[in-house]
Amino acid sequence: MKQLSSSQIRAMYLDFFKQHGHTIEPSASLVPKDDPSLLWINSGVATMKKYFDGSVVPKNHRLTSSQKSIRTNDIENVGKTARHHTLFEMLGNFSVGDYFKKEAISWAFELLTSPEWFGWDKEKLYMTVYPKDTDAKKYWQAAGVSPDHLVDMEDNFWDIGQGPSGPDTEIFYDRGPGHDDLEPDDPENYPGGENERYLEVWNIVFSQFNHKPDNTYEPLPRKNIDTGMGLERVVSIFQNAPTNFETDLFLPIIHKTEELSNNKNYGKNDQDDVDFKIIADHARAITFAIGDGALPSNVGRGYVIRRLIRRAIVSGHRLGIEEDFLYKLVPIVGEIMQSYYPEVLNQKDYLAKVIHSEEKRFNETLSDGLSLLNDLMDNLKSTNQKVVSGKDAFKLYDTYGFPLEMTREYLNDEGYSVDEDGFKVEMQKQKDRARNARGDKKSMGVQRDLLLEIKTPSKYVGYTQLNVSNAKLLDIIVNEKLVDSVARGDAEFIFDETPFYAEMGGQVADQGVIKNSNGEICAKVTDVQSAPNGQNLHTVEVLKPMNKGEKYELDVDRQFHSKVEKNHTATHLLDQSLRNVLGDHTQQAGSLVEPNYLRFDFTHFGSVTEADLHKVEALVNEQIFKELPVQTIETDQATGKKMGAIALFDNKYGDKVRVVSAGDFSVEFCGGDHVKNTNELGLFKITSESGVGAGVRRIEAVTSEDAFNYLNNEESILKQVASATKTHKVEEVPEKISQIQNEIKELQQKQEKLETKVANQQANSVFENVQEVGGLKVITGVIKVSGMGQLRQLADTWRNKSLSDVLVLGTESKGKANLMVAVSDDQVKAGIKSGDLIKTISKEINGGGGGRPNMAQAGGSNPAGLSKAMDAAVNYLEEL
Ligand code: ALA
Repeated sequence: MKQLSSSQIRAMYLDFFKQHGHTIEPSASLVPKDDPSLLWINSGVATMKKYFDGSVVPKNHRLTSSQKSIRTNDIENVGKTARHHTLFEMLGNFSVGDYFKKEAISWAFELLTSPEWFGWDKEKLYMTVYPKDTDAKKYWQAAGVSPDHLVDMEDNFWDIGQGPSGPDTEIFYDRGPGHDDLEPDDPENYPGGENERYLEVWNIVFSQFNHKPDNTYEPLPRKNIDTGMGLERVVSIFQNAPTNFETDLFLPIIHKTEELSNNKNYGKNDQDDVDFKIIADHARAITFAIGDGALPSNVGRGYVIRRLIRRAIVSGHRLGIEEDFLYKLVPIVGEIMQSYYPEVLNQKDYLAKVIHSEEKRFNETLSDGLSLLNDLMDNLKSTNQKVVSGKDAFKLYDTYGFPLEMTREYLNDEGYSVDEDGFKVEMQKQKDRARNARGDKKSMGVQRDLLLEIKTPSKYVGYTQLNVSNAKLLDIIVNEKLVDSVARGDAEFIFDETPFYAEMGGQVADQGVIKNSNGEICAKVTDVQSAPNGQNLHTVEVLKPMNKGEKYELDVDRQFHSKVEKNHTATHLLDQSLRNVLGDHTQQAGSLVEPNYLRFDFTHFGSVTEADLHKVEALVNEQIFKELPVQTIETDQATGKKMGAIALFDNKYGDKVRVVSAGDFSVEFCGGDHVKNTNELGLFKITSESGVGAGVRRIEAVTSEDAFNYLNNEESILKQVASATKTHKVEEVPEKISQIQNEIKELQQKQEKLETKVANQQANSVFENVQEVGGLKVITGVIKVSGMGQLRQLADTWRNKSLSDVLVLGTESKGKANLMVAVSDDQVKAGIKSGDLIKTISKEINGGGGGRPNMAQAGGSNPAGLSKAMDAAVNYLEEL
């Protein structure tokens, strides 16, 4: 067998087909483009659909690729079997209506057996064929395969969902009886059976059909070839590895993990090996997935990443790794894949950062979650039960971040299971709670039974009017009871219709007053929240008697409302501007729209540069100056999505949705209030930007008169600075400040020089005082210098002038004690060590230190002990 690395094997495959007229297609992003039927790119052909279905004509009808792919249907098996992976690479050659069976088969045989290429022994190869496919059999035989190496296989039809499909022929490599995991006469022990001996390495699909969304098949415009060779398997054959993991694609990751685990080694214990493999596999998958733009989250692709990261962490935990470690594997993955995927190493810091912050988040709750899980199993054991309740599984998910799949897997391994329907019920309950609570600070997170019972309908009309002259008061709540009238004090009201906005989607509730038929103000509205059954519930302070069933005038504070509207429209402009400037990965993570400012949280890893922040601000203002009309339409979800509306959170919007757009610039689903034209905002100014958690940033900003006030305030501060620095014009302030800074620098330098001079003078007098101690010439002294740096300088002078055998100096600096010991080279040779001396004497200053034999230093908290330290030095040297 040739000795080839994974990079060489990949390159050889591509080169072979290049020589046969194919164009090498780069490995496409794992995140499918324009293909809603796929969560991930899961094969080479997944990126070629457009060519196969005729919608795009390729420049060259012969293509070849090594395509990174993710398959998630078997995550639980990863690590437990020899060959399951989440991320793998598929080598493939494709004919788009060009060559067909004959060439595909003869080239496959040539690549595998020719000594110029793979050079495998043809006796080791077996091919399965679709029984009726006599052509395929004929071509294999023509290529040189003997009939007893051809195996009929009824289910040789390749089809994994929507897209190209067709009959196929599969190539197996016989690794020899040494790899038998079954008895020789076991019915599964043949090429194509479930066994370890005959390894499937290549699948050649005669792609003729299109599997349609309605699960019917239509012939493709032309006959195509689609092939897939699992790189990891082929590498395991070349490198004679028992499983795919003992190859150069995985071993470096496993070795690094061994190192991080401290005392665990691969190949010693089966369960440990499973964990090593899980980590190696998942580290690759998450690195590539995040590199292609996906991020950990609770839905879709993000959820897969989150699951993989968490699963790998649990494995790490089982290997005794207590610290965050997964992110440390990113550079290893990058190095392994560098020859074909240099982009991984290029963005390794970013990838490590994303993984690390996800790791940190999960690690905070991991041990608590695991101990809950173990308690649950213990309890079941003691009552002879086997099923963990949906409620408990949900608690693990909700409080400890355990994905259901992970809990299930963990339990299954121990012989237990989860009530999954029960889990779904809990999940739904939480969604309902979230919907009713609308996720805001004053929301009714804790349900009030009374409110659940009130079902009177109430309509919000504030989108078009801020005053309703005849609203009927339907319900009055005082002290959690329904009453018929209220004379004074706190109460809650529901009207048949209301112009008061209930706090939602970050927009705060309206304020205003309620008047009776005489035009007198009889209540002040201080808050409005959405009740569980959808009515706007007004919290009011009652000033004059009010009765159920009567009609009142409801009047929203216009100034308050209009400021809120401006800030709400500003958040939409900001949202889109962030996306334009920072990239599509930024998503709204929360918002608060108040009359005086707005706060906007968004996902983004790393900080936002000053320059980008300026760009964002300028872009928002540009939309204001362009005077874009702001329009709202009511429609259904699907139409809204077609309009390109940004949907923030899943399931939050009912069937009827409102879509708010500002010109062509921004389109969002939104239930809030907005200005009619962006010019009403006047001006937009960012007042702060900061991080508020893993991967989440926060911007605070103001509009209109608040922006004006903000700028005015900044200007007045600047004027104060100008006057304090005695500058006449604000423009001259920067110049003036740099002048002042230079002056300070010069003064500091002067001072340092003076200090050195004083120190030298002191040193000279210290240096004059040479004592004889136990036959040694010793200089000791506590002096006044600026710190350790100067002590070291003095030691240099002392050494150059050979002033004594030992020098011990001490000084006090910034309330701390510093000690320095130096020993002449001759005395070092004679066995006196600075380090030993400093250890003894630094006790006097409550400190410690060390250094080289000829010089050592120490710091301590007790300057009063410096002169004792000198005495201690003399004693020490005397006793030598
Ligand atoms: N598309 C075929 C497979 O994935 C080659 O096996």
